[in-house]
Amino acid sequence: MNLLGIESSCDETSIAVLRDGDVLTNIISSQLLHQKYGGVVPEFASREHMRLVDVLTRQALDQTGIPLSDIDGIAVTHGPGLMGALLVGLSYAKGLSYAAGKPLIAVNHIEGHIMANFLTYQKLTYPFLCLLVSGGHTQIVNVKDFGDYEIIGKGIDDAAGEAFDKAARILNLGYPGGPLIDKTAKSGDPKFYHFPRAKVKSDQFDFSFSGLKTSILYLVKQKGDEWVAEHLSDLCASYQEAIVDALKVNTFAVIEETQSPKLVLAGGVAANSRLRQVFQEESDRRGIDIYFPALQYCTDNAAMIARTGLEMIKRGQFSDLDVSAVPNLSLIA
Ligand code: KG4
Ligand code: ZN
Repeated sequence: MNLLGIESSCDETSIAVLRDGDVLTNIISSQLLHQKYGGVVPEFASREHMRLVDVLTRQALDQTGIPLSDIDGIAVTHGPGLMGALLVGLSYAKGLSYAAGKPLIAVNHIEGHIMANFLTYQKLTYPFLCLLVSGGHTQIVNVKDFGDYEIIGKGIDDAAGEAFDKAARILNLGYPGGPLIDKTAKSGDPKFYHFPRAKVKSDQFDFSFSGLKTSILYLVKQKGDEWVAEHLSDLCASYQEAIVDALKVNTFAVIEETQSPKLVLAGGVAANSRLRQVFQEESDRRGIDIYFPALQYCTDNAAMIARTGLEMIKRGQFSDLDVSAVPNLSLIA
């Protein structure tokens, strides 16, 4: 089975071709044009997707030597994400599906992040606990089977990735913040400053990161630019530690409660080197199996969308051409 994957929900235009579970190509074009604005400008993102979606699709098919006629299905992200950005990929996929007479499969981007693990671990089996940490979501999900999810913990304000991006902006590091803080933190001391770890009263497994962002904002204002520049790597390391620590405390509390023997990470923040280290150590200590997607499958990519499409095709879950883009689509309907 040859599947084409199309991803355009935010600032990555990505096209993949999968043969069964194997990735034949996974082209990712990250939109650097947003850097000078310190964040994604939705209108520019849509335009860039429009410029690239057809070019990259042709490139992907050329690279793999698979003609469109040999493609068995077109899997495309239809939410969540930026409306305009989603519409570009989805409309293109619909056109291709109609013109070439190929089935269309509308994929949930969040489910795609979870499924990315099967690209790295083809033999991964259900059930497992998943910590999904991206720019838009922080969720602890009990993944019972494909399509059978229970959300055990969730972010109530800023997502983990957002907390990285906003701090990077406050520190004038640039965009996207996560990778820049990760890199800068490598030479810093995580114990330099103790940022608050918010406890959410309503639900013990929920996350809150907005206070953390406010606290670095006040610290930077109070201490001034010179002090910040002097201690940049220490600040990054301490801030990163606070995020990783909050993620660790809740995730392993859930593991304690559910006695789940298998933990799977997903989403852009799962690329964070400190998070990978801390979670690996804690899992080893507890004798739990832990899985991280390969780095290129943590952040947005079309291979994870095609991999999800493969599961949907197996279950006959095709989409009609009138399927909509849903910017606030959630994991559970
Ligand atoms: O999953 P993703 O690519 O897109 C969404 O679906 O949101 O996640 C993007 C987020 C951004 O906030 C980015 O800063 C963060 O993932 N990120 C990281 C790292 N790489 C990407 N955060 C921390 N450390 C990283 N190495
Ligand atoms: Zn994503």
